[in-house]
Amino acid sequence: MTLVHVESEFYDIAGFLKGNSTLHDFEPDELGSVEGCSLLHLQCHFGLDTLSWARRGARVTGVDFSPNSIAAAKSLAERAGIEASFVEGNVYNAREMFPTPFDVVYTGIGALNWLPDIPEWARVVSSLIKPGGRFYLLEIHPILSMLDDEDIVFNPAWPYFHNPSGIEFEDDGDYADPSAKLTKRKMFEWSHHLGEVVSSLLDQGLELKFLHEHDVLAYKPWPFLEQTAPGTTRFKVPEGKPQIPLEYSLLATKPGGG
Ligand SMILES: C[S@@+](CC[C@H](N)C(=O)[O-])C[C@H]1O[C@@H](n2cnc3c(N)ncnc32)[C@H](O)[C@@H]1O
Repeated sequence: MTLVHVESEFYDIAGFLKGNSTLHDFEPDELGSVEGCSLLHLQCHFGLDTLSWARRGARVTGVDFSPNSIAAAKSLAERAGIEASFVEGNVYNAREMFPTPFDVVYTGIGALNWLPDIPEWARVVSSLIKPGGRFYLLEIHPILSMLDDEDIVFNPAWPYFHNPSGIEFEDDGDYADPSAKLTKRKMFEWSHHLGEVVSSLLDQGLELKFLHEHDVLAYKPWPFLEQTAPGTTRFKVPEGKPQIPLEYSLLATKPGGG
């Protein structure tokens, strides 16, 4: 999968090497300055968002359990001339991997659906943040996981609430390159409703600063979605169709730190 992504227009490595950021425009405003901060990116994939934060002055570390992703991230950092550390490992073991907590922990879109256990994830996230530090999450809105690929008619195909057994499906496609034909494989995903994510973080003593719902999306699951501007990989529901939340972001802080 990483190899398809590295070569895809969707991830646009050429644009990144020319200086483009892969972050959504609102992310730096919402998270606030990362200048001089230590930043850990969980499920960093091959590092585009991690390195975009580095360009904003953070000292970045990315962790992902895919060896191909970590190798591609290291190579990208070198090509871009950006200092960064990329480490192979499972999010659920991250506390043992990084004994020194971070100023900022970050997770970008398309990550939580890979994780079966959100309360345990929240415990790990909280343990990785310094007192006074921040956690910022940007995710696909869980309402999207209920809809099928045909239209935004409210005819849910999947449950909203978390099912611990996950959803099993077979796929030979790829979101970054729909024309890529991969070997058909069985996949599992877990949907996590907003209440579950937010309450799991609060249960760990984190303080929620905001929860925002957005009308933009970083990929195109329905053919009728429109680009928000020419040449971008941000999409929205056209005027005249019911607007639904497509992504959400939240900022939480860890008390203490003076
Ligand atoms: C689809 S990517 C999305 C990440 C990023 N926001 C992006 O768009 O490039 C999800 C990543 O999560 C990683 N991943 C899934 N489960 C993981 C786990 N338990 N520990 C570490 N990485 C994991 C996968 O290897 C993959 O690189």
